[in-house]
Amino acid sequence: MLSKEIYRDNQHTWYVFGRDPDKPDGIIDTNQYMISCGDQALLMDPGGIELFASMLASIVKHIPVDQITHLFASHQDPDIISSLGLWDRTLSKASLHASGLWEGFIRHFGMDNIEYQAIADEGGSLSLGACSVEFIPAHYLHSSANFHVYDAQAKILMSGDIGAALEAPGAAMEIEDFEAHTHKMRYFHQRWMPSNKAKDRWIDRISKLDIDMMCPQHGRIFRGDDVKRFLDWFSKLEVGIAAQ
Ligand SMILES: [Fe+2]
Ligand SMILES: [Fe+2]
Repeated sequence: MLSKEIYRDNQHTWYVFGRDPDKPDGIIDTNQYMISCGDQALLMDPGGIELFASMLASIVKHIPVDQITHLFASHQDPDIISSLGLWDRTLSKASLHASGLWEGFIRHFGMDNIEYQAIADEGGSLSLGACSVEFIPAHYLHSSANFHVYDAQAKILMSGDIGAALEAPGAAMEIEDFEAHTHKMRYFHQRWMPSNKAKDRWIDRISKLDIDMMCPQHGRIFRGDDVKRFLDWFSKLEVGIAAQ
């Protein structure tokens, strides 16, 4: 599995994990992200059951597993958090941050030790030692209760399924040609994102943030001007379309 540092300053480090060559065919490729700050770490959208062993092996190359003190699930999908029951048996002390609306559903993945910390619809924040992140509402994009993670210091937005692209196995992790990349994003956004109104509200909110890097849960990372290009492209895209 690819396991790569994408940002570092004197307080904290961001990692991406993905492109697992051992992933069974037929399950969607996912990106997992982690922020490590001092002796605490936040693992974002930890992934499915099928990826758990590769994820654990990749993480321990960077930090001791017991430093994972916080998990985050942008929403309830199995590709996001079906590994929860396995993390629950692995981590001695950790909390899961996810929408309160999904608690009764997410607990079906198995959760005895990890503490569920419900995020209210308006969002919230999390301190991670000397670092902090914000949970930004992204409801109905695509899940009815959905959040992204913004790190103001690193200027990184972890954007869950927004910005997702369907890629061939082993594809690069960063966008090389934005125009060409839109062809891999269009269907995903039109079919999975149900609401143009929710989309416009999210674009308004995100446009006010200072973002150097946007990190989706599928596909490739957007850097620099490609973040603005994505917001422009998404604003013009009509979503909520299915053949009937
Ligand atoms: Fe999803
Ligand atoms: Fe997803």
